[in-house]
Order: sequence, then structure tokens, then C-alpha cells
Amino acid sequence: MKRKLLVAGNWKMHGSLKFVDGMMQELNDMLPAQRNYDVAVFPVYIHLHQVINNKPAQVLCGAQNLSEHDDGAVTGEVSAAMLSDLGCDMVLVGHSERRVMNNESNAEVAKKFAQALKYGIQPILCVGESSVERQSNQTFDVVWAQIKAVIDEVGVEKLGQGVIAYEPVWAIGTGETATAEQAQEVHQFIRSQLALNDDTIARRIRILYGGSCKGSNAHELFSMPDVDGGLIGGAALTAQDFMAICQQADILSQGV
Ligand code: 13P
Repeated sequence: MKRKLLVAGNWKMHGSLKFVDGMMQELNDMLPAQRNYDVAVFPVYIHLHQVINNKPAQVLCGAQNLSEHDDGAVTGEVSAAMLSDLGCDMVLVGHSERRVMNNESNAEVAKKFAQALKYGIQPILCVGESSVERQSNQTFDVVWAQIKAVIDEVGVEKLGQGVIAYEPVWAIGTGETATAEQAQEVHQFIRSQLALNDDTIARRIRILYGGSCKGSNAHELFSMPDVDGGLIGGAALTAQDFMAICQQADILSQGV
């Protein structure tokens, strides 16, 4: 039994007040109100309020990061309590761009995951190997270490309250998408490892694919038994491209 698909748009450090305005208008016009799949968008912090106030009903909104601290002298950071106060539903943790550019460790990402849950925000844990790691057959080890750190911090039951996004680093923004089989292989590995800890959670947790996902490959990727939707970067930046992916989720969700 397939889980409810989720199409999530990570806008990264793109956009402006005008962009958000236009996007919200287009999504309001184009997204069907009745859907059997979930849609979420992740703007930069300072656009969250505008998205939350103007998004179509039932579109979820999330932040791209959060602080591992409750509050205090942490200049430039944003807390889970602040995100919750704004009305954020979700938050990305451990995106590879942050792991690389901000040196976020597995342990730090796990703390952020815990912090999101503590404030009732659903975390999306991003995991994935670099091209060097794939070439040296370390994909499973790398991905599992990233997930295991979260299990060590919060336990498998709480991991199950989040979402996992498998985003092979070599496929992000490169146009080189993982094949549906490559994605399925890793998703299946994650699920089988989780099943060793808790079978119900392994079957229930959503695992998204991210990395050059677009309208033309979404159907093939999302049809894989262990792929439950996508975390979309570049193709989430125009309503038309994003809708093309949503339409594939719609087709696959008919009759579910
Ligand atoms: P692209 O879809 O641009 O490859 O980005 C994927 C991603 O990093 C989403 O978080």
C-alpha cells in the first residue's frame, strides 16, 4: 500500500516579495482544491509570513532550517518556537547544501530534528551521498549514518513522525537525475534498515526523492514502490514546472 505522496518545493535562496506574490496567485489558480497528495513549499525565513498568509488552503509551508537552541544569544538564527508561532507546518533539516557550506554534522542535524518535533513542526530529514561516496560504494553507509544519528537522538518512533528526503548530492541542480531504479534501491535500503528497528514505522514513513526532479521524470520516480514524492529545487521556482510535477502526483494518486 503506497503512502500519500508529497510534492515539496524547496525554493532555496531564491525569490522576492513580488515572486512570492505571483507564486501564491498562480498556485491558488492552478492547484485543485481536492487532492489525494500533499503539497508543501519552503521559502526563505523572511518570506514565510507572506506565504503562510496567502497560500492556498491545504498547501503546507515550511522553513529551510532552524536553530537547535530554544532561544537566547544566538545571533542570526531562528528558533522552532518562532517558526511554530508563525504557523509553519514543516522544516527541512540537514539539506546537503547546509551540511557542506555550514559544516552541519549528523549530530547537529539530529538535534535540529528533535527541536522541530518538540515544537510540533514536522521535520524533513535530508540525506544523500556525494558522487565520490557513490563511486566508492559508500552510499548505504553514508545515508544510514545520517539517519542513525537521528535515531540515536530521538528514537525510531520519533523519527517516524518526520519525513526522509533522499537527495543524492551529485543529482542536485546538475540536471543529472538518479534513475528511478537508483532511487528505489536507496529508498528500499532505508526502509529495510528501519524495519529492523520498527516494521510499522518503516512501512509508514514517507521517503521523498530529490535531485533534478521535474515534470518529465516525476512519474517514473514516484511510481517506484518506495518513493513517496519529491523534494524539488529548480523546478519549484516556476508555477508551471511545479504544477507539471504535481500533475504526475495527481495521476498516481487517483483512486488511492
Ligand atoms: P534540484 O531539484 O534543483 O536538483 O534541487 C533539489 C534539492 O536540493 C531540493 O532540496
